[in-house]
Amino acid sequence: MLIALENVCKIYNQGQANEVRALSGIDLSVEAGSMLCLKGPSGSGKSTLLAIIGCVFPPTSGRAAIAGKQLARLPDRFLTIHRRESIGFIFQKFNVLPELTVLENITLPLLPLGISPRERRQRAKTLMERLGIAHRENFPAGQISGGELQRVAIARALINRPPIILADEPTAHLDTPLSREFMAIMQQLQAEGKTIVIASHDPLVFEHPAIDRQVAIQDGRIHVP
Ligand SMILES: Nc1ncnc2c1ncn2[C@@H]1O[C@H](COP(=O)(O)OP(=O)(O)OP(=O)(O)O)[C@@H](O)[C@H]1O
Ligand SMILES: [Mg+2]
Repeated sequence: MLIALENVCKIYNQGQANEVRALSGIDLSVEAGSMLCLKGPSGSGKSTLLAIIGCVFPPTSGRAAIAGKQLARLPDRFLTIHRRESIGFIFQKFNVLPELTVLENITLPLLPLGISPRERRQRAKTLMERLGIAHRENFPAGQISGGELQRVAIARALINRPPIILADEPTAHLDTPLSREFMAIMQQLQAEGKTIVIASHDPLVFEHPAIDRQVAIQDGRIHVP
């Protein structure tokens, strides 16, 4: 199993007045090469669960293993290394930096990896060509269209060649054709062997034929209907 969570709990601000129990007793396995959709109402814990899978922070308790590595036992420094090497993250608002060019945005995740500028540019060029944004290479990201921004976000998530792609409400700011296009790109990536987990309550996403499994989350627990 590529991703294996056992009895995972996450408590924000533990022991303080503003303590929030965001996840309780989550058991979840994701097979390599599959595409899973996490759905659930606002505040149910979808983004928190993606953050744990994405090595942003460890669970408060429970076991979380990615490719056999126990995340809860890894010191922060190693969690960060694991994230940079294994995870591609696509955010709801794409988190693209408007003043940087398309090329600079896409290559950003490679800066801490010590990859040469030449190799960075080569990898970005391949992705920009594939995603049809090569003609925007030197445009500031603040001056391109929504559909192009989405592709920049996808290219940036792929540039470190991660086996796992996580997307948090990726279609929230996209119209129907762009949402379909997003899912078509995810389907291609899955066909290439990527493992994909998407948090979304958009039926265009969770009803898409490429989704292998839907997991419903409610109040921080997996909801079994
Ligand atoms: N950094 C944080 N500090 C404290 N509480 C948090 C933090 N992040 C999330 N929470 C709380 O944890 C719970 C789960 O939040 P989470 O963002 O995971 O839900 P979600 O399902 O992604 O919601 P949405 O659909 O609105 O994005 C919520 O009650 C939220 O307020
Ligand atoms: Mg969320």
